[in-house]
Amino acid sequence: MVKLSETARFTALCAAFAVILSMVTEPADAQLKPEFYVQTCPQLPTIVQQQVQAAIKKDARMAASLLRLHFHDCFVQGCDASILLDDDSRLPLGEKTAPPNLNSVRGYDVIDTIKSAVEKQCPKIVSCADIVALASAISVRLSGGPMWYVPLGRRDSLTGNFSAALEFLPGPSSTVTELKQKFSNVGLNVVDLVSLSGGHTIGLSRCVSIITRLYDFNGGGGADPTIDSKLLATLKTTCPNGGDGNVTTPLDPTPTVFDNRYFKQLQIFKGVLNSDEVLFTQGNDTKGLVNLYSQNVTKFMADFAASMIKMGNMKPLTGKSGEIRLNCRKPNSLLSQDMEPLIELVSDI
Ligand code: HEM
Ligand SMILES: *[C@@H]1O[C@H](CO)[C@@H](O)[C@H](O)[C@H]1NC(C)=O
Ligand SMILES: *[C@@H]1O[C@H](CO)[C@@H](O)[C@H](O)[C@H]1NC(C)=O
Ligand SMILES: *[C@@H]1O[C@H](CO)[C@@H](O)[C@H](O)[C@H]1NC(C)=O
Ligand SMILES: *[C@@H]1O[C@H](CO)[C@@H](O)[C@H](O)[C@H]1NC(C)=O
Repeated sequence: MVKLSETARFTALCAAFAVILSMVTEPADAQLKPEFYVQTCPQLPTIVQQQVQAAIKKDARMAASLLRLHFHDCFVQGCDASILLDDDSRLPLGEKTAPPNLNSVRGYDVIDTIKSAVEKQCPKIVSCADIVALASAISVRLSGGPMWYVPLGRRDSLTGNFSAALEFLPGPSSTVTELKQKFSNVGLNVVDLVSLSGGHTIGLSRCVSIITRLYDFNGGGGADPTIDSKLLATLKTTCPNGGDGNVTTPLDPTPTVFDNRYFKQLQIFKGVLNSDEVLFTQGNDTKGLVNLYSQNVTKFMADFAASMIKMGNMKPLTGKSGEIRLNCRKPNSLLSQDMEPLIELVSDI
């Protein structure tokens, strides 16, 4: 539960960071703005914070999962809650069952809970995409990371896109060239790549995401030669060849604390994913940033916050495009169709 002093500190930090950020970033799309719901739903940040806090209390990993949910939403047709749509025969195949998301992305039920709490107080006002963006920022802050004002005013998509999820989301075996390409595809640069990869300072990976790195690196039948030998032994114990791919392992030694430990691990060849370690072992520019963030946690936090705002501004649906979904899992058109039998039943009586 939110202690008063904690809330006050939170607000003060918000303000401090907003000032810092206003000097270093310009929202890519001026249409999104932090004060979007100030008149129509002033309680919004408080509601989301209470719900996220309760969710993290139940499951410490949820902060990480909510952060990743926003990332996987934004990289596929922009931050439009497309990832939240359940598959339905009346819709194009959606993103939830795409390999980068299936049995991997978590937090859909938490977003449902937040959405219900928000609908109770501000009906039909707040988009699911904005709830995801706010929940990710609050998760970072509650884990000890930076606070920033989240630009708001996104609208929700009418459809998702399975093949776009396959095409745009980066995979754990990527080289640094591939990672740079995936980020530049969505308008993000090398600083964004390295600072946002720092999101792996919280959360877990499944064995299935590292198994080729441990046992068949580049098809060579062995382990990635760059991996630290002690970490390799540990990971092999957690993730035996042919074992349960759903077993999890932390992405850094402090998986609930948003700090710069992740970058320090990369410097000693203890990155867990191949896509983590290559930031240090391939490419002078990314290596320079890893060293910088490992030395200067303030710089990491400031760059991370700025890049989160940039990522959150990707291709927002505003104005007449999109809608405010009432149920984050379905477009509104399907909700009314699904309710038709109910209405018929009522009129029969
Ligand atoms: C740079 C390219 C990236 C790649 C290749 C990548 C890949 C992955 C993979 C494979 C996992 C483990 C998933 C699983 O095994 O189920 C993971 C977890 C995670 N990723 Fe990334 N990721 C990238 C960038 C990002 C970004 C930009 C963020 C957010 C800013 C992020 C946040 C997270 C978090 C928080 C987790 C842990 C989730 C949890 O514990 O539920 N990642 N990532
Ligand atoms: C879905 O994504 C694919 C791959 O990016 C793209 O070619 C296609 O046009 C998208 N479909 C829709 C309906 O946007
Ligand atoms: C992980 O668990 C899911 C859901 O129980 C299951 O469908 C899937 O096959 C498992 N994946 C792996 C890699 O074992
Ligand atoms: C990286 O830096 C080293 C040493 O300064 C240099 O020899 C090398 O060419 C650089 N590599 C790339 C890919 O820029
Ligand atoms: C760390 O980064 C911050 C923010 O960019 C900067 O003000 C500070 O001087 C840096 N500290 C060191 C020791 O370089």
